[in-house]
Amino acid sequence: MEGWRASSLSSWLSAPPQFPFVCSPSCALCAVLTSVLCLFCAVALCVGVYFVFNLVPWFPRKPKDLDAINDKCLQMGEALSSDHPGATDPVYRSRRVEVTALAKKYRHGEKIPEVDYTESEEGVWRVVYGTLRKLWTTHACKEHRYILPLLETNCGYSEDNVPQLQHISEFLQDCTGWRLRPVTGLLSSRDFLAGLAFRVFHSTQYLRHPAKPLYTPEPDLCHEILGHVPLFADPAFADFSQEIGLASLGASDEDISKLASVYWFTVEFGLTKENGSVKAYGAGLLSSFGELEYCLSGQPKLIPFDPAIAAVTPYPITTYQPVYFVTESFEDAKKKISEFAKTLNRPFSVRYNPYTQNIEVLDSKEKILQFANILKSDMNTLTDALFHLKP
Ligand SMILES: [Fe+2]
Repeated sequence: MEGWRASSLSSWLSAPPQFPFVCSPSCALCAVLTSVLCLFCAVALCVGVYFVFNLVPWFPRKPKDLDAINDKCLQMGEALSSDHPGATDPVYRSRRVEVTALAKKYRHGEKIPEVDYTESEEGVWRVVYGTLRKLWTTHACKEHRYILPLLETNCGYSEDNVPQLQHISEFLQDCTGWRLRPVTGLLSSRDFLAGLAFRVFHSTQYLRHPAKPLYTPEPDLCHEILGHVPLFADPAFADFSQEIGLASLGASDEDISKLASVYWFTVEFGLTKENGSVKAYGAGLLSSFGELEYCLSGQPKLIPFDPAIAAVTPYPITTYQPVYFVTESFEDAKKKISEFAKTLNRPFSVRYNPYTQNIEVLDSKEKILQFANILKSDMNTLTDALFHLKP
C-alpha cells in the first residue's frame, strides 16, 4: 500500500497541545514533541520518525533514481486500448514496439537514441505541424510564439523534419536546465510529477496513427514536443512546473491527486492573460487543433487560477474541458503553487540542489546551514551586481 495520512495520526493523538511551530500545520507528532523538546530537535526528530517508520512514500533523490521509474509504466507503448485508431493495425503496433524498446533500455546519463522516422510518420508530423503552426500565431501565448522559431533554428523543427529528443534536450538544458527522458508510455501521477522536481520531462517518442493525424487519445511525440517543449524553454514556466514536482515528493496519495489536478489545469490545459486578452499555454491545448480553437471561442467557462480550487475540480479526459483556469502570469502561478504546497500534509521540506542536481531533504542543522550559506553567497552576488548597475 502506498502513502500515509497525517490526518489519521492526528485523530489518534486527540487534542494536541498548543505549540509555536510545526513542520506541517496538521502534524500532531510535531505538536507533542515541541511541548517537551526545543523547536529544532522536535522537527528533526519528527521527520526522522516518519522516514524511519517508512511513513513517507519512496521518492527519487538523484536523477539516476529516475531509472527505477522507467520500468513502472502503467501502460506500455505497445498496449493499445480498443478505441485507439491503431489498435487493429499490426504494422502500427509492431512499429510502436520498435520505438518503445529504445526508451525501455534508456538509462540516466546516456544520449537519447535517435529514431529513424518512416515516411508515414513524417507524413503525420507534416500535417500536425502545418495545421497547428497557423493557429499558434493567434491562439498561443507569447512565450510559445517566441520560442518556436528558436526551436526551428536550433533543433530542426519544420514541416519536413521530425526533430530528435536528444537535440531538443540539449537546447532545453542550455535555456533553463530542463532535460528530456524517453518513456515507453503512461506513468503514474506520482512518478511523472517526481520527474518535474528534477527539471526532467518524460517524453514519448512514437507518433499517433496515420489514419487520424489530428487526433490522439494519448500523449505522443507531437503532443510532447509541440505542446510541452516550447514552454520548458521559458525560465518562469520552467520554475513554476518544477514547483509542482517538488511539492509531490513524498506527498500522500490524496495530495498527489490534488497536485495532478493542478498540473492538469495548468501545464496541460492552462490559459494566461496577455495584453488584455487570453492565450493558451497548456500543452493539451497547443497540440490539439480542435480544442485550441474551442478554449478561446467564448463557449467554455474561464475562471481565475486558484490551485486550491483546481486541486478539487473534476475534469473529463476524453472530451474538451468545460472549464479552464486563467493565470495572471507564470510568476504569479508559481507563487500560488508555493503557497498551496504549504497547505499539503508533508512533515518536511525539500529543495533541488542545482549544483548536484539532487533533491535534499532539509532535516538536519547541517543541511539547513549549508543552504543558508548558498543563499548568503547568492545575496552577495546580487548586492554586488546591483552596486555595479549604472543609474
Ligand atoms: Fe502532456
